[in-house]
Amino acid sequence: GKKPVVVVGSINIDLVVRAERIPVEGETVQGRDFQIHPGGKGANQAVAVGRLGYPVAMIGRIGDDAFGEQLREHLAGAGVDISAVAVSPGTSGVAVIVVSDNGENSIVITPGANAHVSTTDIDANLELIRSAGVVLAQLEIPILTVLHLARICAREKVPLILDPAPAQELPAELFEIVEWFTPNETEAAFFTGNADAESSSTMAQFLMGKGIKGVLLKLGSRGVYIATRAHVAEQLPPFAVKAVDTTAAGDAFNGAFATGLMMNLTPVESARFAAAAAAVSVTRPGAQPSMPSIAEVEQMLHSATGSSDS
Ligand code: RIB
Ligand code: NA
Repeated sequence: GKKPVVVVGSINIDLVVRAERIPVEGETVQGRDFQIHPGGKGANQAVAVGRLGYPVAMIGRIGDDAFGEQLREHLAGAGVDISAVAVSPGTSGVAVIVVSDNGENSIVITPGANAHVSTTDIDANLELIRSAGVVLAQLEIPILTVLHLARICAREKVPLILDPAPAQELPAELFEIVEWFTPNETEAAFFTGNADAESSSTMAQFLMGKGIKGVLLKLGSRGVYIATRAHVAEQLPPFAVKAVDTTAAGDAFNGAFATGLMMNLTPVESARFAAAAAAVSVTRPGAQPSMPSIAEVEQMLHSATGSSDS
C-alpha cells in the first residue's frame, strides 16, 4: 500500500478574534467575531494531508481537558490516524490569535500537553516512523524530541521536512539531516542572521551550506522560492487571492508539499501544488477548517493567470 505521511508535532486549540488591526504593545483595540478552531502547526499539517485524501498519521499529545477530546475528534474526522496521539494530564496546547482585517495575524501559544511530546513518544512509535514515506515536523514541541526524531529519520532513511516555526536556535546536527527546510520570510531572516532583504538565492545557499538538502522559502504574497543542492533554483509566482486569514497557510503548504512528493510529483511541481493549497487556505478563516480538498487545489492550479497548464 501507500506509505503514510507521518506528522510529529503540536496540537492546539486556537482562540481567535478578529480586529481592525493587531494592537501594539500597551494598546487595547476593539475585537469581534470570537471563534474557537482546531489548530497547532503539527495537527494543521496532518489535516492538510488528510483533506487531500492521502494516508497520514499524527504523533503528538493533547491534554485531559475538554479541548483535547475536540481536537482528537477533529483530527480523526479529517482522516488522520490518531492512534499515536497520547493524552497528558493538564491542559491542551492553546493559541491566542488576533487576525487583522488585512488577513495578517499575531499569535501567542502556550504549549500545554505539547511540551510533553518526548523522545519516549518517538521510540514508542518507531514502527510507524519507519513505515513513513516522509515525516513532517515543526518547532512547537521540545527541540530535543525533534532532534531525536531527526536522528531516527536519518538512520531509517526516511526524508524529514522541517518547518522551522516558531523560529529558534537549532543544533547544527539537525541541518545536516533535514531534507527540506521550509521557513517563511521572518524565519529565513532569523536563520540566515540577516534581517535585511537578502536575495532568496543567497539565503537558500546559506542554509544549504549548513547541510540542508532542499530549501523552500515561503514568501507569502510573493510566492515561493525553491532550491536544492541538486541545482534546482526556481521562483514560483504567487496565486492571486484575497486574503481573509493567513493563519496556517504555511501548514497547508507543508502538508500539500509532502502529499505532492508522495504522489510522485517533482519537488518543483509539489511546491506549486503546495502554493495552490496555501492560496485556497488563506481565502477562509481558521486553521484546520481552511484546509482544502484536492479538487479545490486543482481548481486553483488551473485558474492561475498565465498558467501554461494543458
Ligand atoms: O501555523 C498556525 C498555527 O500556529 C495555529 O493553528 C496555532 O495553533 C499556532 O500553532
Ligand atoms: Na485560513
